[in-house]
Amino acid sequence: RIAYVNGRYTRHAEACVHIEDRGYQFADGVYEVCEVARGQIMDMTRHLDRLDRSLRELRIEWPLSRRVLQMVMGEVVRRNRIENGLVYLQVTRGVAPRDHYFPASGTAPAIVVTAKRSDPAAAAKRASQGVKVITVRENRWERVDIKTVGLLPNVLARQQAKEAGAVEAWFVDLDGVVKEGASTNAWIVTPDGKLVTRPADHGILRGVTRATVMDVAKKLGLTVEERGFSVEEAKQAKEAFITAATTVVMPVVAIDDASVANGHPGSVTLSLRDAFFDIAE
Ligand code: PDD
Repeated sequence: RIAYVNGRYTRHAEACVHIEDRGYQFADGVYEVCEVARGQIMDMTRHLDRLDRSLRELRIEWPLSRRVLQMVMGEVVRRNRIENGLVYLQVTRGVAPRDHYFPASGTAPAIVVTAKRSDPAAAAKRASQGVKVITVRENRWERVDIKTVGLLPNVLARQQAKEAGAVEAWFVDLDGVVKEGASTNAWIVTPDGKLVTRPADHGILRGVTRATVMDVAKKLGLTVEERGFSVEEAKQAKEAFITAATTVVMPVVAIDDASVANGHPGSVTLSLRDAFFDIAE
C-alpha cells in the first residue's frame, strides 16, 4: 500500500508524521473520508467544499491547491489499485513545539492521504440484514459541524455500541432529540412515507452522503423534512437508516432494545440505497 505524506508517495507501512505534529498533540486538524466506487472518488466537489469550510473555521491553510489535492487523491486511489474502498485525508496545523497558541506564521500545514479497499459484497449483506443502534447522551462540543480529528466522544460512543452488540451510537440532546450517529447521520421514514433528518446546523456534521441522499430522494419523488426527531418517534417510525461515506445508506432495524417496525430493513431505505449507487457521481 502507498500513502501520500507531505509531498511524497511512500510505502504505507513506512509512512510517518512528526511527534510534534499538532494533530498528534492537540487533535488540531481536520479530515475527510470519501467513498471510492468503480475506481472513482464519489462526491469530490462536496468533500472538498466541506474540507474548505473546516479549514476556514479553524484558520488552517490549504496544504496544496484544491486542484493538486484532487490529483493526489486520484493518484493514491490508482497506486493502490482501489476499485471499491475509501480515501482518507487529514490536514493538521503542522509541526511546531507544543504550545497552545497557533504556531508562527509560515508553519506549513501537514497533509496525509491514504486509501483502502472495502468489500461491497459484505456491505450489501449487512444492508440486507440491517444494523442496530444504541442511544447515548450528547457530550461533544458545540461545533461538531467542523470535521476535526478530535473524535474521543465518538470513539467512546461507538465502542459502547459495539459492546452492546450494536453498530452505531446516536447522540441525543437533553430534549430527547436525535442529533446524529458517532460517524453517521441519522434518518427516519415516517408512517406516511416522508424522510426526516435533522437540519444541518452546528449540531451535526453536514454529511456528504446526507446531501446526496437528499438529491436521490428528490429524484425518487420522496419528500424530505429537515427537522429534529425524538428517540420515541424513531422507535415508532416506519423505517430508520444511517448515512455516511463508509456505510452509504444502511438500514437501522433496532434502536436500543426496540425493533423498528418489523425488525427488517425497510423498502424506502433499500430503494434509496440502490438508487444511490445508480445516481451518485
Ligand atoms: N464520518 N456525522 C459524523 C459525526 C461523521 O463523522 C460522519 C462521517 C458523518 C457522515 O458524513 P459523510 O456522509 O460525509 O461521510 C456524519 C466518517 C465517515 C468517519 O469518521 O469515518
